[in-house]
Amino acid sequence: MRLLFKAAGEGLPLVLLHGFPLSAAQWDPNFARLRERHLVVAMNLRGLGGSPAAESATMEEMADDVAETLGALGIARAAVCGCSMGGYVALAMWKRHRERVGALVLADTRAVADSPEQKAGREEFARAVLEGGPAVAAERMMPKLLSAAAPEGTREFVRSLIHANRAQGLAAALRGMGARPDSTPLLETIDVPALLVCGAKDTISTPEEMRGLAARIRGASYVELPGAGHLSNMEAPGAFSDTLTGFFKERA
Ligand code: MLT
Repeated sequence: MRLLFKAAGEGLPLVLLHGFPLSAAQWDPNFARLRERHLVVAMNLRGLGGSPAAESATMEEMADDVAETLGALGIARAAVCGCSMGGYVALAMWKRHRERVGALVLADTRAVADSPEQKAGREEFARAVLEGGPAVAAERMMPKLLSAAAPEGTREFVRSLIHANRAQGLAAALRGMGARPDSTPLLETIDVPALLVCGAKDTISTPEEMRGLAARIRGASYVELPGAGHLSNMEAPGAFSDTLTGFFKERA
């Protein structure tokens, strides 16, 4: 499936994959800075941010969509940066479309699969969203996405992105995340430059867990952003963008 995206800039192609329950607009706070050095393509994953929806939205299907959309854009290879669910998709890209991945940035994400309890929780959440709409996703996720110190403007922006999504797309993504396999064995196969970024106050994918991921990837860099919660690119946009551009500048 071809995805809706926002693209600008020139230089090393950089694909940005958003988290749940958001859209490509998650990267708005980073866009201006990143496009100074990169051809930035922020994708709206299937069923979210206005991209076409489908009954099923596994991380593998989302990765196939990203590869297809890159192909349509004539981008053979790109640095792939995914936040949280976007990180699950980035790892699925590494599994299925390795030739397209020139570097990996994994932000506030995890490699393990859901436990049986978490899977059941996803299904219950999906049903609740189908019944109650995106407001249910906002109510459940808002307390976990940002640190207590996040400014009200950021909070309102995140809420507006959640509300702009449709229940169908949100439910499919929840079921897709619940079905994702354990990607831990993939980590040691990563042989492209890898950068891991984590908000120091992230309670979903904690610094401790992300340090563990970094330890399994040969030569990976790990950067913690002080004060930021799960959506570290939104809470510390300057530091996040500078970390990425610095990482790629060093390797240019
Ligand atoms: C996300 O931010 O994408 C989600 O919190 C990931 C998840 O629920 O596993």
